Amino acid sequence: MPEAIPGTCEPHTVVLICGARPNFVKIAALHRALSARPGRCRPLIVHTGQHYSPELSDVFFRELEIPPPDLHLNVGSGSHGEQTARALTGIEACLMHYRPDLMVCVGDVNSTLAAALAAAKCRIPSAHVEAGLRSGDRAMPEEINRIVADHLCDWLYTTTDEANDNLRREGIDPARIVFAGNVMIDTLYRHLPRVDREAVLRRLRLAAGSFVLLTMHRPANVDDPDSARRLIETIRRVAQHHHVVFPMHPRTRARLSDMLQSDSWTQGGGGRGVTVCEPLGYHDFVALQQCAFAVLTDSGGIQEETTALGVPCLTLRPNTERYATVSMGTNALVGLDPERVMTTLETLPAFADRNGAIFPRLPFWDGHAAERIAEHICTRVLGTDDARDTRAHAEYVPRQMVGAH
Ligand code: UD1
Repeated sequence: MPEAIPGTCEPHTVVLICGARPNFVKIAALHRALSARPGRCRPLIVHTGQHYSPELSDVFFRELEIPPPDLHLNVGSGSHGEQTARALTGIEACLMHYRPDLMVCVGDVNSTLAAALAAAKCRIPSAHVEAGLRSGDRAMPEEINRIVADHLCDWLYTTTDEANDNLRREGIDPARIVFAGNVMIDTLYRHLPRVDREAVLRRLRLAAGSFVLLTMHRPANVDDPDSARRLIETIRRVAQHHHVVFPMHPRTRARLSDMLQSDSWTQGGGGRGVTVCEPLGYHDFVALQQCAFAVLTDSGGIQEETTALGVPCLTLRPNTERYATVSMGTNALVGLDPERVMTTLETLPAFADRNGAIFPRLPFWDGHAAERIAEHICTRVLGTDDARDTRAHAEYVPRQMVGAH
């Protein structure tokens, strides 16, 4: 395998690991910021292949101008164990070959967990971007992935004060925590001027403010039959009052296909009912978020994007790891309770009244988080011996040695 891996082992090589749709939005900003420092570091992209469909992967590389991956591991779908194990094996071989100066993983998907574990075992310095988020719900696979990644990685780049507090509460050395901001919002701000709202609305025959945008893919919502039935009931209730636009994730389509036979689910255009479509590309989806009366979702990243855009978000979960979005007043946790969803929707101000409202930004959600991370990586993580901050490793190495005796 190592012979097949392109690229060479140069000093200050930074390997960025990505695997699933939300990862691509984050590494777009990080790759750009690291590439802007060519004499100081050389970023390589490794795609695990956790997401492989054109609409979940290729479209993001194209629209976000991410260069093709330097290495593709083709891990594909499977159980959590199978998928994580294939990613772990591939990332381990890749790290042993490149021997990078730093491995960076992002978010909370299975590829993130595999990357953190591989780097720790290979003794490669590592960083986790979007560290410290906690829902407190260990039934969520992402919660397990986050906890393990945070406890294994040397450097933890966080998005909010709550995340800093969570890490400190878990006993993590504050010297490893760097409050940098939100790289997903960097990508959002960079791409907003390229979003053609009118074109998307025309294509889907929608009017701004006339529809509710829905996404749903969490196993707890779509894999469990009771939750799936409540979800369908919720959508039917909402569709009596608002047109619902539902770009459907493949997991959701596979689980709900039997329940989606009614005509009302496929009708497009104006009026009430539900438009089901394939997952959308980044620009189209941002356009729909901006133009929606409200967004209903169980995604994590969409709670953040709606907060940055000032669009009301109803999160169809009992908890969130992104509590700052609730504190900001743009996000409400409504679970899968049709009554609660309807009451919340009814109390939202009319779209026209709130359009253009200014929403205060969360600290460091300013479009420059990746630059802060890249600067920290170049000066404190990879920098010259004088500037390099070895505290994370000073702590890490003795721990390994204690275990070895
Ligand atoms: C994964 C992440 C989740 C993230 C989501 C974004 C984990 C544990 N979950 O969930 O945190 O919010 O990505 O979408 O890592 N499939 C395709 N094409 C693909 C990929 C998957 O059709 O490109 C289908 C397969 O049938 C697969 C299913 O979707 O079994 C689920 O994919 P998987 O990567 O296991 O998890 P997601 O639900 O996408």
